[in-house]
Amino acid sequence: MTDLKDAATQVRLNAHAPYSNFQVGAAIRAASGAIYQGCNVENVAYPEGTCAEAGAIAAMVAAGERIITEAYVVAGSPMPVTPCGGCRQKLAEFAAHDVRVTMATTGGVEQVMTMADLLPGAFGAAHMETTS
Ligand code: THU
Repeated sequence: MTDLKDAATQVRLNAHAPYSNFQVGAAIRAASGAIYQGCNVENVAYPEGTCAEAGAIAAMVAAGERIITEAYVVAGSPMPVTPCGGCRQKLAEFAAHDVRVTMATTGGVEQVMTMADLLPGAFGAAHMETTS
């Protein structure tokens, strides 16, 4: 876990967050054991900004991996930063229900939740099966 924490903490420093001044770092471990990092990248056209989790997921997929086994998200917030709704869905695309997501502050406070905790009743591939 320490390496995931270090990876998220390190990449957070590269965040481009001039509008919110809220830098976020994310690190995910994939099935191979490799770690992929992402930070938030904001844009002057605000809705075009991307979250740290999205960056880490994109790096993982670009490297040819599809399975998240663990995730860590950190921000300089007073309480552990939780992935936004959209990022929960993005994580759920590649992470099973029992995957642990650690949310943290730069001050060292951590909270661990599973994907099932974060996104109960998630829309998934089973919902896409047609009955007629
Ligand atoms: N943000 C993330 O990158 N991940 C999260 O889990 C929560 C929010 C970013 C988006 C935006 O750049 C900034 O934090 C403020 O919302």
